[in-house]
Amino acid sequence: MMGEGREFDVIVFGATGFTGRLVARYLARHARAGSWAIAGRSEEKLMELRADLAGESLEAGGLSMIQADVSDGGSLRALARRARVVCSTVGPYALYGEPVVEACIEEGADYCDLTGEMDWVAEMIERHHEAARHKGVRVVHSCGFDSVPSDLGVLLMQQEAIARWGRPAGQGKYYLWQARGGFSGGTIASAAETVERAAGDARVRARLSDPYALYPSGELPGPDGQPQDLVKYDREIGAWTGPFMMARVNEKVVRRSNALRGFEYGREFTYGEVVRMGPGVGGALGGWAMTLGLGGMVAGLAFRPGRWLLKRFVLPKPGEGPSEQVRKRGCFRTRVYGWKEVGLRGGERVEVEIGADQDPGYGATSLMLAESAMLLAEGREAVSGGLPRGGVLTPASALGETLIERLRSAGMIFRVL
Ligand SMILES: NC(=O)c1ccc[n+]([C@@H]2O[C@H](COP(=O)([O-])OP(=O)(O)OC[C@H]3O[C@@H](n4cnc5c(N)ncnc54)[C@H](OP(=O)(O)O)[C@@H]3O)[C@@H](O)[C@H]2O)c1
Repeated sequence: MMGEGREFDVIVFGATGFTGRLVARYLARHARAGSWAIAGRSEEKLMELRADLAGESLEAGGLSMIQADVSDGGSLRALARRARVVCSTVGPYALYGEPVVEACIEEGADYCDLTGEMDWVAEMIERHHEAARHKGVRVVHSCGFDSVPSDLGVLLMQQEAIARWGRPAGQGKYYLWQARGGFSGGTIASAAETVERAAGDARVRARLSDPYALYPSGELPGPDGQPQDLVKYDREIGAWTGPFMMARVNEKVVRRSNALRGFEYGREFTYGEVVRMGPGVGGALGGWAMTLGLGGMVAGLAFRPGRWLLKRFVLPKPGEGPSEQVRKRGCFRTRVYGWKEVGLRGGERVEVEIGADQDPGYGATSLMLAESAMLLAEGREAVSGGLPRGGVLTPASALGETLIERLRSAGMIFRVL
């Protein structure tokens, strides 16, 4: 088995950051003592974190700490050699991610992260998919709110469709039904980094706007176009819908999962994501306010003075994020609908709901990432059969149904309505 005989099942790299700390706290409560370790570039911050975690479990006081820096390839390889799985929250990934992925492939450690930077993921596929596949290393991006609810929601919906109709749904749609939470400085830094790269590089822009940018090379693109970018009334749910800011990320991940799972959803499967606003004038106005706010934020981040002003006065700094109170009051619900026929609205459909009673971006995200890492550490044999044994993968193509079961047991909602 890959990673056999390693000192640790999971090493959390970037454990001293905002999300990394939450992942470490989750593992302190749920993983076997001695089976995991924290890693980061600052010994002082690691010691501080370990002292904090001692409040979570007695064993966490003796937690192993590993110092590694992205700029020091030797330290990354030494880290990867000690782990079955490296779980990285070091972002922006386009700045810091590739050396970690390379070290994991070289040293035969599986890898998972939280990236929503799809142009970078497209680059990782182009540069490292074959090597990872060849070595049997699973590199699994986007194991947080981007894109687990979408990716596993569509998988659950399609499995229900196949059970009911003997074939997958032709058309799928994700509605962000309800969400309460906040943003961290690291998320903003990653979004700003993507907008900045896109402003200066036509190749990045092309990747971001290609619905099939994560498709395996050589595959012909399917029928999908761009995500919804305006406010529209949706008769199927009797409410207004607006653009979802993560649609460009999640939709691409779902399409790659379909391809890597042998086109289980069909080659002509069409899929999109939106936010459900509400019925009546209030819903329409809310939709427009959100759309304009989102457009304003992207425009602000695209230009240097706007970026400086937003980062300096409005947005949280790296290392900062929503308070514990905000996270605890947070929650999210998403619904994925699948229609038997394409474009035949009002026809037969299946519905699934995915959710958690924690904020989506940090509370639920740290749970999803930590559970993904622990499942990867159990080895390929722990995952239901037929999935790729290595490569640059997605949550549904690396961990599939087994991850749904695991997240359900951890308290998340995954149900057929
Ligand atoms: N997909 C999702 O749903 C989701 C949700 C949450 C976060 N994220 C993503 O996760 C990433 C982290 O977010 P965050 O808010 O936790 O960010 P953060 O608080 O800024 O943490 C970043 C971490 O990276 C570490 N780091 C930076 N440069 C490094 C280097 N050269 N070598 C080693 N470590 C280095 C930092 O170390 P120090 O502590 O020493 O500064 C810190 O631990 C972002 O890319 C964000 O977009 C995604």
